[in-house]
Amino acid sequence: MAGRQRVGDLMDWATRMLEEARLVYGHGTADARDDAAALVFHGLRLRHNSAPASYRRVVSPAGRKRVEMLLQRRIEERLPSAYLTGITWFAGHEFRVTRDVLVPRSPIAELCENAFEPWIDARRVRRVLDIGTGSGCIAIAAAHALPDAQVDATDISPRALALARGNVKRHRLGSRVKILRSDVYGELRGRRYDIIVSNPPYVSAAEMRSLPPEYHFEPRLGLQASRNGLAIIARILAGAHRHLEPQGILVVETGDTERAVRQRWPSLPFTWLEFERGGGGVFLLNADQVQAGPHVR
Ligand SMILES: C[S@@+](CC[C@H](N)C(=O)[O-])C[C@H]1O[C@@H](n2cnc3c(N)ncnc32)[C@H](O)[C@@H]1O
Repeated sequence: MAGRQRVGDLMDWATRMLEEARLVYGHGTADARDDAAALVFHGLRLRHNSAPASYRRVVSPAGRKRVEMLLQRRIEERLPSAYLTGITWFAGHEFRVTRDVLVPRSPIAELCENAFEPWIDARRVRRVLDIGTGSGCIAIAAAHALPDAQVDATDISPRALALARGNVKRHRLGSRVKILRSDVYGELRGRRYDIIVSNPPYVSAAEMRSLPPEYHFEPRLGLQASRNGLAIIARILAGAHRHLEPQGILVVETGDTERAVRQRWPSLPFTWLEFERGGGGVFLLNADQVQAGPHVR
C-alpha cells in the first residue's frame, strides 16, 4: 500500500481483507463493504455524511495506520466493528455503543421509522414502553418518530441503563424518554401504554453455543433466556394486559425463537410482521388479543 492512496482505494482494500477473512456480519453492518466503511471512516475521522465525496481524498500515513489497526482487531479478535468504533446507526439515528449493550440491529427499527403505522394511529400515541432498552435505540427512535409521546425505557442491567442515559442526553430527549431500572414490568405498577415494544433476550442455551464469535462479545444477559429462550417473552405476554391501554399494541421480537413461541402459545392470534429490509420473528398483538390471559401461562 505505497504511494498516494485515496480513501476509495483504502475502502476497496479493506473490503477485500474482510472478505478474505470470512467474518460474520449483522452487528449493525450488512456485509464486508459496509463493515469496511465503518472502520475506514472511523479510522480516518471522516463523517459518514461526507461519502462519497471523501473517496477522492488522500489518506495520511497516520490515518492508514489507524485503519490497519482497526482491521487487524476486527479480523483477529472477531470483535464487531461497532464495538471498535463505539458508534452505530439505528432507524437513521446515530447511537453510542459499548460492550455493555447489544449492537442495535432489530427489524423493529422499521416500525419506529414508520411511527408504528399502520398498526396504530400515531397521532393518538401518548405513552410508549420499551422493555430491555439496551443502548436505548428503540426508545429513542420511537421518541423521534412520535413527537407527542412519553417513552419509558427499562432494563435490568445498570451498565446498559447508564449507556442508554448517555444516548438520551445526546439526542436531547431527556424530557420525553425516561430510563428506569425494572425487571420486566416490576417497577411499572399501575402504568399503562399505547405501545409496549421489546427486543428481549430470547436465545436458548443450546443456540448460544452455536453462535459465531462476534456474538460472544455481547452481554449474555442481552441474548440468552432460560426455558429454551422463552422465559422473558412469557413474562412480557403474561403482564401485558395490566399495562396496555384498551387500543394499545404489543410488539415483541423473538428471532429464531418464533417457532418455539408458536408452539408454546398455539391459541394466541399472533400477527407476524414483515419487513422491507428483511428480518422477521417479530409478533404483534392488540390489547383485546392480549386479554386472552389464560392462554399465557
Ligand atoms: C436483545 S437486548 C435488546 C437491546 C435493545 N433494545 C436493542 O434492540 O438493541 C435485550 C435487553 O434486555 C435486557 N434484559 C434482560 N433481562 C431483562 C429483564 N428481566 N428485565 C428487563 N430487561 C432485561 C438486557 O440487559 C438487554 O439490554
